[in-house]
Amino acid sequence: MPGKMAMIFGASNILWIVFAASQAFKIETSPESRTLVQIGDSVSLMCSTTGCEAPSFSWRTQIDSPLNAKVRNEGTKSTLTMDPVSFENEHSYLCTATCGSKKEEKEIKVDVYSFPKDPEIQLSVKCVVPDVYPFDRLEVELLKGDSRMKHQEFLEDMERKSLETKSLEVAFTPTLEDTGKALVCRAQLHMFETDSEEASPKERETYRELQVYILPKNTAIHVHPSTSLQEGDSVTMTCSSEGLPAPEIFWNKKLDNGDLQLLSGNATLTLIAMKVEDSGIYVCQGVNVIGANGKEIELIVKVAPTDTTVSVNPSAVLEEGSSVNMTCTTRGLPSPKILWSRQLSNGDLQPLSENTTLTLISTKMEDSGIYVCEGINEAGRSRKEVELIIQVAPKDIQLTAFPSESVKEGDMVIISCTCGNVPETWIILKKKTEMGDTVLKSIDGAYTIHKVQLEDAGVYECESKNKVGSELRSLTLDVKGRENNKDYFSPELLVLYCISFLIIPAIGMIIYFARKANMKGSYSLVDAQKSKV
Ligand SMILES: *[C@@H]1O[C@H](CO)[C@@H](O)[C@H](O)[C@H]1NC(C)=O
Ligand SMILES: *[C@@H]1O[C@H](CO)[C@@H](O)[C@H](O)[C@H]1NC(C)=O
Ligand SMILES: *[C@@H]1O[C@H](CO)[C@@H](O)[C@H](O)[C@H]1NC(C)=O
Repeated sequence: MPGKMAMIFGASNILWIVFAASQAFKIETSPESRTLVQIGDSVSLMCSTTGCEAPSFSWRTQIDSPLNAKVRNEGTKSTLTMDPVSFENEHSYLCTATCGSKKEEKEIKVDVYSFPKDPEIQLSVKCVVPDVYPFDRLEVELLKGDSRMKHQEFLEDMERKSLETKSLEVAFTPTLEDTGKALVCRAQLHMFETDSEEASPKERETYRELQVYILPKNTAIHVHPSTSLQEGDSVTMTCSSEGLPAPEIFWNKKLDNGDLQLLSGNATLTLIAMKVEDSGIYVCQGVNVIGANGKEIELIVKVAPTDTTVSVNPSAVLEEGSSVNMTCTTRGLPSPKILWSRQLSNGDLQPLSENTTLTLISTKMEDSGIYVCEGINEAGRSRKEVELIIQVAPKDIQLTAFPSESVKEGDMVIISCTCGNVPETWIILKKKTEMGDTVLKSIDGAYTIHKVQLEDAGVYECESKNKVGSELRSLTLDVKGRENNKDYFSPELLVLYCISFLIIPAIGMIIYFARKANMKGSYSLVDAQKSKV
């Protein structure tokens, strides 16, 4: 063990001097000086030392009574354990530690208490016998049915002559089994008739039948099928309650003002064909002569979405580029949420929006299709569809003559008109004549002249038309003469539908010729005359 030591550190101009002192022999305890512990629990007192490598310990009480505890020494520590704590531990304990010639002592006071349980409420039966004399002859007993609960003989000294009231009391907690049993208080005064030799005590007795009542309790409700119902459903609620006498059951509905409206005096309440108004709080009460106990349950009647309607503004048929608002309304309880979807070609729905109004801004042709609004809540769903048609003015009309706009008399010529892939478009193929226009009977926009005549020369015009607009194209057919040949042709009237993808296979060629053609070609009588020469 080092003695006193001085260390000197030199740093710049400052000198630090540190003293390290040797440790003195000291004793410590835990708890420090006092502890409070409940009878029956356990407690350990600890004593420890510093400044000594191998101290020895001893414990004792202030008045040198037995320790009533176990000692355990371990190096510089000693522990005193009391388990369980009893009255015998209510002492001041002294720990003494010795290190060579040094001796240190410390005291811990242990206080005990007992307070282990909640208080109990006890009922008792008391039998009172008034105005007794001589009361040293009195014997009283209390019986429950046939069994004696308590008995006492009042063998007391009579200091003076007086009438005294004596009583006998016994704790008594009635149980259900006690119902119907009798409580009997029997008092005997052991007096003897003067000329009788046999003891015939005077006797009085009071009898009381026990009636045990139990407040209704544990009132419980069983609901079938559920407290969440749909309009039109039925529900059965059964209520039970415990008590003595057995509680009667009453079913009520809680009104908005908090009052109860009596519905039934039966344990089972069945509600059929439920409406939204049947939602609310139902109260079951178990009632007997001494009280009541209630239980509430909430029923919620849910209405599946219905009357789903869609309004389209301005119209379900639109021109490309315009905007449309589609607004959906629906009814139900709880309030249905709205889901707007688009129906895909395979019938699946692609969700678009949960807003009431679905707005399409500057629509395109591809936006055409079926839109579905669904009203959805826990009780179900209801849908409404709307078909949106986006129309496009005819465009990309091609009017061509195959094989050429310049043919020889007797050749075959096909004049065909195609439009872009715009649905709902009419195509009218015409020939301009001096007399007016002749509409040609074309098939899918194609008009075939098997043996072209000189009269067939001239201006052909194709008009492509739908609700949104129309477009015109024309070409001039030039027919070079041979000899004779005069097939008569009488054109017929017909209006045709344009289905562009059904047109002649040689689309490439048609486009080639079309480019060569004079799209805006105008009819010239002079040219027509020339061509006939
Ligand atoms: C209780 O139920 C019985 C038969 O189940 C029926 O006759 C009686 O009317 C019901 N009482 C009430 C108050 O609903
Ligand atoms: C769609 O609704 C919005 C918001 O109410 C309105 O500003 C807009 O003009 C409507 N569009 C059409 C095409 O009705
Ligand atoms: C729904 O409406 C809100 C506000 O009116 C808007 O911000 C949101 O973009 C809309 N959602 C869809 C998917 O249209």
